[in-house]
Amino acid sequence: MATSFCSFNVPKSQDPPKPLNPSLQNPPSPPLHLHNQNHSSKLVITGPSKLSGHVAISGSKNSSLPILAATLFCSGTSKLANVPCLSDTRAMASVLASLGAEVQVLGDEILVNADGVRSVEPCPDEIRKCEVGSSSLGRCWPGSAPPRSPCRGCDIGARPVDLYVQGLRALGAVVELRDGKVQAYAANGRGLVGGTFQLDYPSVGATETLMMAACLADGVTLLSNVAKEPEVVALARFLIESGACIEGAGSNKIVIKGKSWLHGSECKIDPDRIETGTFMLAAAITRSCISMSPVIPSHVSCLTEKLRAAGCKIRQRSHDTLEILAVSTDGANLNGFNVKTGPFPAFPTDLQPQTMALLTTCNGSSIVEESVFNKRMGHANELLKLGARIQVCGSTALVLGKDKGSLLSGSSPIAKDLRGGMSLVLAGLAATGNTEISGVSHIDRGYENIDAKLQSLGADVKRLIPLTCSESQ
Ligand code: UD1
Repeated sequence: MATSFCSFNVPKSQDPPKPLNPSLQNPPSPPLHLHNQNHSSKLVITGPSKLSGHVAISGSKNSSLPILAATLFCSGTSKLANVPCLSDTRAMASVLASLGAEVQVLGDEILVNADGVRSVEPCPDEIRKCEVGSSSLGRCWPGSAPPRSPCRGCDIGARPVDLYVQGLRALGAVVELRDGKVQAYAANGRGLVGGTFQLDYPSVGATETLMMAACLADGVTLLSNVAKEPEVVALARFLIESGACIEGAGSNKIVIKGKSWLHGSECKIDPDRIETGTFMLAAAITRSCISMSPVIPSHVSCLTEKLRAAGCKIRQRSHDTLEILAVSTDGANLNGFNVKTGPFPAFPTDLQPQTMALLTTCNGSSIVEESVFNKRMGHANELLKLGARIQVCGSTALVLGKDKGSLLSGSSPIAKDLRGGMSLVLAGLAATGNTEISGVSHIDRGYENIDAKLQSLGADVKRLIPLTCSESQ
């Protein structure tokens, strides 16, 4: 008889007693209210801006989300530090709470105790709130989830789950599409069993999901052609700290020896490599000099190489501090360059839109090829509103640069997805006059305090928050 995957999370009778954490005896704290984050707020940028000073890089969103999901696999309390305060991380916290986990949000720390979780079906409302993209709970949590969950983040192209389904089947799961949901069961009545699976494509979400599932499977699992992204390595680190036996994370093969249970542990989320890259590009597009920390320079080396080739000077001032100088002494403009996105360590798809914004201001013409997602060019149309010259053909864009002295000009573009929205902010920093960006809630999903951080670097950025009916009365 089929057994629900639920048994993975409910500790087996021979498991050691779970320590009760006194700090978690209180009811879960409500998800933190995010000030200034309103669905119809706008960012108004008056440019052109010159940036200077230092910016603090927040913890990684794309690392926090799968690690938060992984806390469900652990007995006892897990404590995550350096979690960015974003609508996505808060939504994930509220999904965990809606499943019955005790969740406490204390500044940038999140404590999760999932011992009380008995349900394996995330509440649809919570899932809808939770635009957590690649590593969404709906994809990590064994049980059921909508096949094309609305929680799959930005609309940037097809986001199938075939690799998740095939991989879970290789571990002994029965996965069916029933009542509009993907339902998964362990077929042998005991739980998953170790297996061998080669991914057709090194999907980050599928690698993370299968690695988590294999930690509690019976026997050894070999996953090949897996994603090598830093977020996969960080998740493996957390799972290993929690008692899992994983080798090879960061290479293209991961071997996992299943354990009967995992315990809660503590982890500090790595700095956000996409935010790091975005601020490097902000300095470049405004031809400014800024420094940033903490960063892991090897996580952004692909962008560093491109920006150096364009004419920027990038110095590692300490093990976790980068300085970027995008001003040439002879007044020469930065040069355009070509980029093709791909799985790590290739150029990150999450920096493609912001890079396109920079290229609209550089010498010559540049080619941007998006090879990860098939619909990630929507920002190009919005950049055109600021006077950019871009021709898109499928997943390739020809970006015609600006002659020296010619600038983008302010306009009213709409952010339609997270990174595309941020490309408009960068373009607004470089443009003359006012740029009024709507759809800011997309940007707030992935950038902590973006307006305050840019203001601290000297940019003229304001957030307009419309009064609600009750406030205006
Ligand atoms: C992607 C990025 C990741 C980034 C994240 C957040 C890559 C390879 N992945 O991860 O770096 O942090 O977005 O924005 O750059 N695919 C399938 N079948 C599946 C799963 C995926 O065909 O079952 C395809 C997707 O359609 C896509 C590609 O694989 O074309 C990459 O998807 P995947 O890595 O899974 O995306 P995310 O996990 O969201």
